[in-house]
Amino acid sequence: MKFGYFDDQNREYVIQRPDTPLPWINYLGNENYFGIISNTAGGYSFYQDARLRRLTRFRYNNAPLDVGGRYLYIRDNQAQMNGDSLYWSPSWQPVCRTLDQYACHHGLGYTRINSQKCQIECQAVYFIPLGQDFEFWNFQITNHRKEPADLSLFSAVEFCLWDAWDDQTNFQRNLSIGEVEVEKGVIYHKTEYRERRDHYAFLACSHSVVGYETQREAFLGPYRGWDSPQVLESGQTSQSLSPGWQPVGVQKVNLALKPGETARVIFMLGYQKVDRDQKFTDPDLQVINKKPVQKKIKDYLNGEFLDESIQDLKRSWDSLLDIFQVNTPDVHVNRLVNIWNPYQVMATFNFSRSASYFESGIGRGMGFRDSNQDLLGFVHLIPERARERILDLAATQLEDGRAYHQYQPLTKRGNDAVGSDFNDDPLWLVLSVAAYLKETADWTILEELVPYDNQPGTEEPLYSHLLQSLEFTLDHLGPQGLPLIGRADWNDCLNLNCFSSDPGQSFQTTTNQGGRTAESVFIAGLFILAAREMIPICEIFADPDSALRYIKQADKMEETVWDQGWDGNWFIRAFDDFGAPVGSKVCQEGQIFIEPQGICVMAGLGLRNGKARKALDAVTNRLATDHGLVLLQPAYSRYYLNLGEISSYPPGYKENGSIFCHTNPWIMIAEALLGNGDAALDYYLRINPSAREEISEIHRCEPYVYAQMIAGRDAPTHGEAKNSWLTGTAAWNFVAVTQWILGIRPDYQGLIIAPVLPSGWDGFQVKRTFRGTIYNITITRVGPGSDLQVIVNGSEIPGTLIPQPDPGVKDLEVLVKVGSPG
Ligand code: BGC
Ligand code: NOJ
Repeated sequence: MKFGYFDDQNREYVIQRPDTPLPWINYLGNENYFGIISNTAGGYSFYQDARLRRLTRFRYNNAPLDVGGRYLYIRDNQAQMNGDSLYWSPSWQPVCRTLDQYACHHGLGYTRINSQKCQIECQAVYFIPLGQDFEFWNFQITNHRKEPADLSLFSAVEFCLWDAWDDQTNFQRNLSIGEVEVEKGVIYHKTEYRERRDHYAFLACSHSVVGYETQREAFLGPYRGWDSPQVLESGQTSQSLSPGWQPVGVQKVNLALKPGETARVIFMLGYQKVDRDQKFTDPDLQVINKKPVQKKIKDYLNGEFLDESIQDLKRSWDSLLDIFQVNTPDVHVNRLVNIWNPYQVMATFNFSRSASYFESGIGRGMGFRDSNQDLLGFVHLIPERARERILDLAATQLEDGRAYHQYQPLTKRGNDAVGSDFNDDPLWLVLSVAAYLKETADWTILEELVPYDNQPGTEEPLYSHLLQSLEFTLDHLGPQGLPLIGRADWNDCLNLNCFSSDPGQSFQTTTNQGGRTAESVFIAGLFILAAREMIPICEIFADPDSALRYIKQADKMEETVWDQGWDGNWFIRAFDDFGAPVGSKVCQEGQIFIEPQGICVMAGLGLRNGKARKALDAVTNRLATDHGLVLLQPAYSRYYLNLGEISSYPPGYKENGSIFCHTNPWIMIAEALLGNGDAALDYYLRINPSAREEISEIHRCEPYVYAQMIAGRDAPTHGEAKNSWLTGTAAWNFVAVTQWILGIRPDYQGLIIAPVLPSGWDGFQVKRTFRGTIYNITITRVGPGSDLQVIVNGSEIPGTLIPQPDPGVKDLEVLVKVGSPG
């Protein structure tokens, strides 16, 4: 069952009924000011950091779902409904009165909600103009009645007192500190501005504001919710202004519409920073300096600027997406690769795992491992921002190569509360830097001086950070010569040193064992992959000694994996604190894990000796379901002290045997490395959200983005997705499908074109901008088999790497013939 449809032409997903199985969201914003918005206008806004600078309040995990948003109410001042006053929300929530028509269009950086009720048609477009720290709500309303309509429109937001954690916990203080000012209909939220803050929020309106509220209870009335505000019932505002309690921004606008008349009302909600020495126009009265906002209102709060800025936003997305456009026989591939997957990758780049409808914006900042992986799918979009991110990440590395597991986006400092010791972390930096170099050939990044732990005086070239990352693994080997796992590796829930029986302890940060025994085969595979990525970097960077060292160390680690980490038919996952294998046939539960099968084959293990094929066959036989590949089998049915959080989940959920989507593209890449395009595409389509759209009532999450997990075969809700949007699945699927199935793969010396063409496809076309040159690529099957013949501007080249053309070459015509003709 579907709840909407893809409008590929306009790059929108159109939701046709408001009561989707879960709120289906979109993101607004691109640089500093951001918002989350659901299909019924729920969500919130923040500046840079969803925890530390939150503008509006949202109630996570609430009943009813999705409370807190950018609300609008229409009040029909003449009509009544069953004796009550008649009012509704044009976005359905929060009033939830049935609408005669409803459609929510989630587009790239904007959301448009259309509705009609009682012959009053409404359209609200929400977006953040490029480069601005405010959002627009562009509201249009048309009277389709034969008689005039006497209406009032109310805006409503609840302000968050900036620090979202404190806001939801420290009520003894917070219920006394809220402060606002109102001037000329503009509501200024200035809590804590009198002392240490130099910023406030504002809500402005293009129309004359005839009444307002800034106290939540004055608007709603005691014991009432957002669905039935007292002020909407009476139609009367009280101009509430006292400090404390819950500050809100509610504005009332009157609209008298003739038959057929349309009115346009624009709201502007924003963040304003003020120079510290100019914070007040009247320090004695503590009156805040509103000049910068007044200027913004004058310059921007008009239809002309708004119309231009939404066009600019659309153009900016068009040009980003234009970098990689594909035309294959499969609509789901096209849709995801051309539109939604890069769009989701942008969200993961911006927010890492911090703010979604499953991530509260409070708990997790920018993950070191996560952000490095997110870059793999992002780097071709805006390489300059990828560069900056790499340097920020590297600056949270410690001198011995370890890395802070997370950092706060506002401060860019490592998060002490979470700390370090996830032993895979540093290796991901090598992969992101390699991807950056392959995309851009900007070798200067390796010379950038980057501090350790952000400490001035400790700067070393980024190149040294990469060496440190690899050395860290080599400095932390366990008894069998495999890497020690530390708190966890990629699988945050495999906590082999945790041994926690205390419900208060965090699985992620508690270590009750010495940590000198438990080893990870996954990290071994990741080390080999990273070391082999590093070898050409060392060579090009004129450091042959290091190149030689990593050739040897990668080979040595490979030998160790074969000796210790091969179970006969697949790769073992790890060894626990007793030295016993995890993910082996000798285990009762958790006999096979997906991660080492993917990463070891990606690192090149077993490609020639048949063992990669064996491991991938084991994946097919034991882990494949119609909904994707599960993480492990059999799922753990009870809690194992020696394994940690993984066994805390009910079977089939999260790391305990769900389809943990992030891992599936590793298997697609591995299959592609073995030349098996059919299997790779098959796995790809099982989790592709568009290909799952028809089963939205089972999948439940948005059909336009990947979710972190889909409940596995052991779960009663098999096929149900959770944790949509912020997941490494986005970047890795983009890499798997574009670089390995379609085979368009940046490399140091140029662009490789080496598709593994699925047997059902005759071919496909790609337009790829790479280092300033447009590659117009046509892939066509000329016969059976997988031989590739690459013809550039009419001449055949040896191999599949198209060397970088001379500067100034604007475009290249590339023809790739697949198979051997007759
Ligand atoms: C989740 C993991 C996540 C970790 C982050 C765990 O509860 O299962 O997916 O990476 O928390 O701290
Ligand atoms: C989600 C985390 O963000 C990521 O870092 C981790 O690798 C996966 N969960 C698997 O545990």
